[in-house]
Amino acid sequence: MSDTTELPAPWWRSAVIYQVYVRSFADSDGDGLGDLPGIRSRLPYLRDLGIDALWLTPFYPSPQADAGYDVADYRDVEPLFGTLADFDQLVTEAHDIGLRVIVDVVPNHTSSDHIWFRAALAAAPGSVERARYIFREGRGPNGDTPPNDWQSVFGGGAWERVTEADGSPGQWYLHLFDRGQPDLNWRHPEVIVEFQSVLRFWLDRGADGFRIDVAHGLAKDPDLEDLDGRFDIAGAAVYGHPHWDVDPVHEIYRGWRSVIDEYPGEAMFVGEIWLESQARVSLYLRPDELHTAFNFHFLLAKWKASSMRRAIDDSIEPLVEIGAPPTWVLSNHDVIRHVTRYGDGAVGTRRARAAALLMLALPGGAYVYQGEELGLNEVLDLPDEARQDPTFARTNGTIKGRDGCRVPVPWSGSEPPFGFGPGTGQPWLPQPTEWASLTAAAEADDAGSMLSLYRAALAERRRNQALGDGSMEWLASDDGVLAFTRDPGFACVVNFGPGHAGLPPAVAAGTVLLSSQPVSDGMIPPDTTVWLSA
Ligand code: GLC
Ligand code: MG
Repeated sequence: MSDTTELPAPWWRSAVIYQVYVRSFADSDGDGLGDLPGIRSRLPYLRDLGIDALWLTPFYPSPQADAGYDVADYRDVEPLFGTLADFDQLVTEAHDIGLRVIVDVVPNHTSSDHIWFRAALAAAPGSVERARYIFREGRGPNGDTPPNDWQSVFGGGAWERVTEADGSPGQWYLHLFDRGQPDLNWRHPEVIVEFQSVLRFWLDRGADGFRIDVAHGLAKDPDLEDLDGRFDIAGAAVYGHPHWDVDPVHEIYRGWRSVIDEYPGEAMFVGEIWLESQARVSLYLRPDELHTAFNFHFLLAKWKASSMRRAIDDSIEPLVEIGAPPTWVLSNHDVIRHVTRYGDGAVGTRRARAAALLMLALPGGAYVYQGEELGLNEVLDLPDEARQDPTFARTNGTIKGRDGCRVPVPWSGSEPPFGFGPGTGQPWLPQPTEWASLTAAAEADDAGSMLSLYRAALAERRRNQALGDGSMEWLASDDGVLAFTRDPGFACVVNFGPGHAGLPPAVAAGTVLLSSQPVSDGMIPPDTTVWLSA
């Protein structure tokens, strides 16, 4: 036997994974909420787009205090979204057309409707039922001050006081997110066992992997010490923080990895890990932990050559030694859509086109958030009554929240609901009438549309051996221009500058494969990316 035989690299090292935000993707039954049968009906669209896998955001039974990230039962489907049979059928049909399916696991907290939390409320302080969560006595003579000064990510304090069975004011429980999302105690053995069993449940049903919600948050320093203003609450977490990136979190993932490795078929994990340091993120990607993580440094980088170059270098460097592939993402259901972040209107769209070609040329995997392939913008003028993100209510409207990137996808037609659901019933968030020109149907036959650009780029990515997993090399380039090559014979050049730029001499003789704007005479217009065979 030769040990030089090369096995093909696992699929997740180069996959383009499409994020389906279930409640806003496609509605089969006209209740205004997207659902699993709706996704099934759009599988041909996803196949034609050319992605490799879908990531489904939580579709489990949930009171929807945080759009499903408050899970009441980890082994079932919320009736609003369908049934387990619908899930099975979706997985079968996706697999039949070569698409993998990743589900979202939410281990940091359950819903306050979860059977464990109900039992904890019914039981007494100090009981085994309360030990699965983080209950503490309050401070002050009457215990009416929270146990510490931790803040909810959604605004306000991170503790809620309960009323004990005898009607007296009681203990407090920790919720780093909404009060309907009590944090689990990951030092409790039953919590460890339960989530390994949940992973098996979905792997047994054919899931190809898991996106791990708040993956850096599970372990907490048991002393629960005050933050005392030591950390910037709005920014990404810094090591040493008592409730983010606390070291025992790595043991949890070593256990998870051993579960997933028992299954055939290259199932994978992708962690949602918001940390200031990419080197700290890379620790989660050691060979016996997670396979990949989202790259929020790339998402947060400004549309500027120097910022993008730094984000790319900072992302790749710490991974080289560990051997994990980088990933790239521009938008998701928690951030302002990148068309709008990059300037909105025509400028934002032009930059978003260039950014898509940059992202899809970089080494490793990439994430596409539903609707970015249509060039959807953030909806900034949603009426306050329509807003559902808990952040809006918890900050008394000071922070508008994330609803603007969650507006349902426009599929066809000239007015809302743009084919999102059957008939004329309106979706859970109102769609802008201007989206008539951004429907999937309107863009499908327009060679100049964002959809056509994504389709062409994804097709080239499948065809071109240089793209996906591997390495890249920077080329010397003018100010405001980034250029790199990938083997064999591929170059990507991005002009971030306000004026036209020439191609770097090393690739000037190459043939243009694809460009985000028309290129002529070897001159790249502003805010434009070019792919070349060189
Ligand atoms: C993650 C999700 C976000 C959710 C939060 C709490 O950040 O992406 O949507 O609100 O976790 O579960
Ligand atoms: Mg529905």
